[in-house]
Amino acid sequence: MTLEALRYSRGSLRILNQLSLPHESRYEAVGSVRQAWEAIRAMKVRGAPAIALVGCLSLAVELQRGAGGPGLAALLAFVRDSLSSLVTARPTAVNMARAARDLAAAAAQEAQREGATEDEVRERVIRCAELMLEKDLRDNRSIGDLGAQHLLERVAPGGGKVAVLTHCNTGALATAGYGTALGVIRSLHNLGRLEQAFCTETRPYNQGSRLTAFELVYEQIPATLIGDSMAAAAMAHRGVSAVVVGADHVVANGDTANKVGTYQLAIAAKHHGIPFYVAAPSSSCNLSLDTGQDIVIEERPGQELTDINGVRIAAPGIGVWNPAFDITPHELITGGIITELGVFAPEELRAALSSTIS
Ligand code: MRU
Repeated sequence: MTLEALRYSRGSLRILNQLSLPHESRYEAVGSVRQAWEAIRAMKVRGAPAIALVGCLSLAVELQRGAGGPGLAALLAFVRDSLSSLVTARPTAVNMARAARDLAAAAAQEAQREGATEDEVRERVIRCAELMLEKDLRDNRSIGDLGAQHLLERVAPGGGKVAVLTHCNTGALATAGYGTALGVIRSLHNLGRLEQAFCTETRPYNQGSRLTAFELVYEQIPATLIGDSMAAAAMAHRGVSAVVVGADHVVANGDTANKVGTYQLAIAAKHHGIPFYVAAPSSSCNLSLDTGQDIVIEERPGQELTDINGVRIAAPGIGVWNPAFDITPHELITGGIITELGVFAPEELRAALSSTIS
């Protein structure tokens, strides 16, 4: 059975509480937008695509149970307000903001139809959210296959196996399934061309050791866990063929926000002449920002650094800076940006996506 971040059927949404992983796999019901907001905020569900899906599907569940209204105006206001609140749960991942815009537009368009009823507007929003779930899974498979093919042509054109270093969690637990950067690794493994994956621990929240390592072991993909501070040494001494990471927000010039630590991986990869790839669906791309300077970076509580499992390890009184993400400048993305629509050099991204997204 494959790992699932969420389980959805009409009127019912359950999420895997990722706070209990890797020790316990426990699914919890999410019956409202409020509960989804709290689950996202508490990091029970993580990863830009999964966050957006849980947000949108929680609204679908509430609408299915009759929330919103009475009257079209009240229903539209409910949809809009719910989506606006979901966007505030985690500010950096752009997928929720894009999905909110698309769902609100679909609701407004349906409501404008001559003789539209509340039920029809509800159905339209529910169906749109369900289609997002299906599309994410499809897109991830394409990302995996296109990325694997591109990477092999670039680093192993004569055949042979590759070793890929990745950061944070980008697998089935961060998406509707299959994964983005981990999807590329999965496709390489399926092709019999993966020697091994290196996954970073991903301090301070340890998404790598808790989630990615869990997925890699679960899927029986050969893999080695390293501390974040060991990445340059692994590139120098362990035969890393390429670095592939995910993204929370890719802007028009290709600058990419991803889990903090990504930027230094890109610098080290460039130093070692190792191609650095970003793998992300077009739903993580935002052409309305020109450069990464304008991406809002979430800052998280200092305890994530000073404490481990609730026990203080840092010297009392020390100041802490804990940004959850960093921006990798586009010029360091030397392999390309792998999307479901193709693999693009950063400077090609705007033109490649402009007819699909804004
Ligand atoms: O645990 P999060 O939500 O703070 O981390 C986000 C991520 O999972 C990543 O940054 C990931 O690389 C991009 S989302 C597939």
